[in-house]
Parts: sequence; structure tokens; C-alpha cells
Amino acid sequence: MRLTILGGGGFRVPLVHRALLDDPTRAVTEVTLYDTDPNRLRVIAAVLEQQAAGRAKPVAVRLATDLDDALRGADFVFSAIRVGGTAGRVADERIPLSEGVLGQETVGAGGVLYGLRTIPVALRIAERAAALAPDAWVINFTNPAGMVTEAMAEVLGDRVIGICDSPVGLVRRAARAAGADPDAVRYDYVGLNHLGWLRSLTAADGRDLLPGLLADPEALGSFEEGRLFGAEWLHALGALPNEYLHYYYFRRETLASVAESDEPRGAFLDRQQGGFFKAAADRPEDAYGLWERTRLEREETYMAESREASGGWQRDSCDLEGGGYDRVALALMHAIANDRRARLILNVRNRGTVPALAPEAIIETVCEVGAGGATPLPCAPLREDQLGLMLQLKAVERAAVEAAVFKDREAALRALALHPLVDSPAVAARILERATGHTGTQPGHAGTQPEHAG
Ligand code: G6P
Ligand code: MN
Repeated sequence: MRLTILGGGGFRVPLVHRALLDDPTRAVTEVTLYDTDPNRLRVIAAVLEQQAAGRAKPVAVRLATDLDDALRGADFVFSAIRVGGTAGRVADERIPLSEGVLGQETVGAGGVLYGLRTIPVALRIAERAAALAPDAWVINFTNPAGMVTEAMAEVLGDRVIGICDSPVGLVRRAARAAGADPDAVRYDYVGLNHLGWLRSLTAADGRDLLPGLLADPEALGSFEEGRLFGAEWLHALGALPNEYLHYYYFRRETLASVAESDEPRGAFLDRQQGGFFKAAADRPEDAYGLWERTRLEREETYMAESREASGGWQRDSCDLEGGGYDRVALALMHAIANDRRARLILNVRNRGTVPALAPEAIIETVCEVGAGGATPLPCAPLREDQLGLMLQLKAVERAAVEAAVFKDREAALRALALHPLVDSPAVAARILERATGHTGTQPGHAGTQPEHAG
């Protein structure tokens, strides 16, 4: 099978490559890395070469800087681009913060700005994929993944599937904290990308372990989401939220923490990633070691501001070990290619799963996957608070897609102003104005070239 990775010069590409090397079936025989930046492509190729050293059967790696050339003949396409690069992320975080509202990679006004900049590029990729690799499955990691998958599905239908590592990470951490085998539990998780809830966790004997876990402060204190949200709120809420919901439930605390931080996440990553790519270009023989060190530092500092806002604590090995988006991607590819039935949490069209949402709206939920693709499983009815947030955010996502497709500034304004973390349309209008000037984030205009995955 041939796999094409768009954003092939992305920092996380070696994780995908490692998953391919570790795959005993060796289903993927050739990987094409496509990126707009040939220098980053060279660095990542050096990391991969050193990662494969000593392996009996390395995976063939081809480099491409022409999109059409990269797409032609692909069986699977992973899209993991960062339009505007980390500099764009810095602006997405800073501009809203200067107006007193949250700026974050995928959440709040920052996420909407990122979506407005990315959707036109993602749509073009979807169109080229439909034309040149009509039978390929497109797996979207590009953030904001919900919004971007929603846009791409307008071209590709069910051939595009969005993925994220946070839901599977939550399930595994919760299962372990409840004393169960993460591979043996069944679960009900539903929402939108970066906005979902784990609502039951069923052990092999059919017992729901979630009520017991939510009533056990000690067990809750042993893993990331338990610490972020705190035992009192989790017990009252009656579900385990995705870590990104911390920005919604604790908006005052998270906003203060992000605003007070000396160096917001985007700025840290801009500096860190820039340092890595420069050092690895100067010393290609050390590329793998440099990458591994940089990766660890990135994992350890993940969500530092949220952790600060919830009492200041360090991530431990259990938090660092999630499902890994590389493994989600590989599991998905296997299930489709070999018709090996699997249950995965994916971003797919709703069909009738959540009756209050349009059938074609993208939701993030438990799916059964096989040769025919991913089918959402029926889930328990949503509670009013869950449904309310989902509907509001879906309106934001739809407005962002509309802004991109119709080059409609009013739709862009609606996307920003309707976001629950933006508290005034006047603020939204100023944010839009400033972003248009700074980053080329304009509805309908690519502004910058597609870039590598962060
Ligand atoms: C998680 C999310 C991704 C997001 C990443 C950000 O893995 O699921 O969607 O891109 O965090 O991590 P970073 O190190 O870039 O802040
Ligand atoms: Mn994600």
C-alpha cells in the first residue's frame, strides 16, 4: 500500500514512521512525504533514515514538493498540515489575548482564526485528492480537525475521516484509573473534536465503571483529566470531559493562566521547533537524537497553562502514554485495508447518531471500522448541556466553512462572535480585522502556503 503524508516535513511524522516500522504486517510499503518546505523535508528524511537504521525491512520513503505528484496513486492520504506555520499559531494566540479572550491553537477565537486560514487550503487538497486519487482514503489530522474535516467532507464525503489522539488517551487513562484493562473496556464517547465526553466505561463483565471512578477522588487524582477538572466538578458533572473542555468549564482560570504565561504555547513551539530544524540541518548526523529530545520536551510541557490553572502539577508517564495519533491512524488504515473490524473514536458524518444535528455534520464518536469505512455506532441520548455546547460549536464550524467557501466576511464574523469563549461581536470584529492584517487569515484566501504538521 502507498501512503502519502501531506505535511511530510512535520515534526510528528517520525511517530507515524515508527508505527509503520513496528507494524508486523508491513501493510505500507512506500511512504511519500509532501511538504512546501524542502529544508524541513530533508531534516525529517534524515530523522527517518536514522530511525530505520538497523531495522531488517525499512519502509521506502519518497520526497515530493508537488502536490499532484504526491497524491497520484496513493491508497491512503494523511493530511497533517499547519497553514501559516508556528508563526501563524503565535498570531492566533496573541491577537485574541490582546482583546482579553482566549487564544489557543484549536479553541476559542484562536481556533476559529486557524480554521479560517486552513479551510481554503484543505478544500483545495480535497479537490486534488478527489481528482487524482478518487479511491484513496483521506485521514485528516489537520487542525482544527473538526472544522477542517467538516469542510473536506463537502468534497470527499465519507472518504475523509478525521482523527485525534485525545479521546483515546482519555479512555485509556480512565480505564487504568478504574483498575481495568484499557484494551478490554467498551465505552460511550461523543461530541465534536476537542469537545466531547466519556459517558460510560463498561468492563468485560458488563459493569459500568464510570460512576465508581467519578466518586473516587483518589483514582481521579491519578490521571490528567481527573486532575484538570477536579473530583468535585467531575462528580457533579457525571461524565469525563475531553481535556480541551477545561477551557470552557474553567474559562476564567485558563484565560488568566494563558494571559499570565511568559511565553504562550505557540511562541514556545515556534522557538523550540525553529531551534530543532536549524540544529538538525546543521548537524544532520544527529537529527534523530535532536528530534527525540525535542519531542520529549514538547510532551512534558503539553497543556502547561491548564495544569498551572488547576493547581500546577507535572504530567507523569501515564499521562504521556495516550493512544498516540500515529497509532489511531495506523489502526484505522489496517481496519479499512484488511477489513479487520475495529472500534475507534473518529470524526465522521453524524448520519442519525445525534438526531438534533444534521446527518452530514461531522461529529467525533465511537465508530465501527471495516473495508467500507467508518460507521458511527448508536450512542445514548445527549444531555442538554452536552447537546447545547455541541450545537453552538457546530454553528461556529459551519460559519467558518461558509466563510471560506463563499469568501464571506460576515460568516467569518459570525464564526468568531458565536463562539462561547468570545464575549462580544465588537471584540470579534476587531480580532478579525487584526488577523486579516497580520497573518493573511482571510475567508476564502489561502494567505500562506500549506505547511508541515506542527
Ligand atoms: C493534542 C491534540 C492535537 C494538538 C496537539 C497540540 O495532541 O489532540 O490536536 O495538535 O495536542 O500539541 P502541541 O504540542 O502542539 O501544543
Ligand atoms: Mn486533536
